[in-house]
Amino acid sequence: MLKKCNLNIDGIPYGFEVEGDFFWGEDQLLFQTENNVISKTTWKQEGFGIVEAFTPQEFSALRNSVEKNIIKALQHQGIHVPESGFNLEDYHQFVNDDADHFKVISITRNLVNEDFDFDIELLVDRFSKAVGYPLTSWVEELQRTHIQLRINRPHSLDINPPHKDGYLSVWEDIVNVWIPIAGCNENTSLPVASGSHLWNEKEIYRTQGKGAKINGNVYNVPCILTTKSGQLNMIRPNPKEGEALLFTPFLIHGAAVNLSDQTRVSMELRFPRKKG
Ligand SMILES: [Fe+2]
Repeated sequence: MLKKCNLNIDGIPYGFEVEGDFFWGEDQLLFQTENNVISKTTWKQEGFGIVEAFTPQEFSALRNSVEKNIIKALQHQGIHVPESGFNLEDYHQFVNDDADHFKVISITRNLVNEDFDFDIELLVDRFSKAVGYPLTSWVEELQRTHIQLRINRPHSLDINPPHKDGYLSVWEDIVNVWIPIAGCNENTSLPVASGSHLWNEKEIYRTQGKGAKINGNVYNVPCILTTKSGQLNMIRPNPKEGEALLFTPFLIHGAAVNLSDQTRVSMELRFPRKKG
């Protein structure tokens, strides 16, 4: 069934159409209030925090590595970009239709540590300290590491729906990490619903996983359409270059509509809590 998802991002109304079967959740709180991966942080009530992640040199090395991966994906799909002087922010000028974009993201959505000439373990260490629990980049259920580049063209539907990663069993006990790479600012940065990890599921109207289609794309994560107290009010914490946004997988996030004129690129990591 086609429905309109209406929400506010930093007070500005935004809406998009989504196709799916929606239902109200069960009477339960999925977020474990004790001994969860963010319980030692000062931001456990909000569900998200901004942490220092890179020195300027490290950030520039990471950005170069991201750029190389995207250029490689473009070339692999036969899309030509200048050998030098290609800016990630101009991506949409080279990828002019959805079909080409979907081909590129089919590669960049499933990367592993080895795709980057940047030491991801450095981040594992830093973020373990930030949350006070040992983390790892190894995802046991997938038997690999997992890194996703998000490429979001201006004024496009290159967004995933508002969702919680924690609905998928593989992401129940992780820290979500969102890193701004290019074109990230107050008009493009990832929105979150502050404190939403503490909401009972019966307050939430959503689809199943793989149950929502936006602009012809089916998403792995369920789409949260609305809540008992009305439409979602989201904010963009907007971490700066060199910082990262950390959040619990039970925090509602997504709908990162790009209201700028540049392509936005971000990096998503998911670090499970180390067992034993
Ligand atoms: Fe997510």
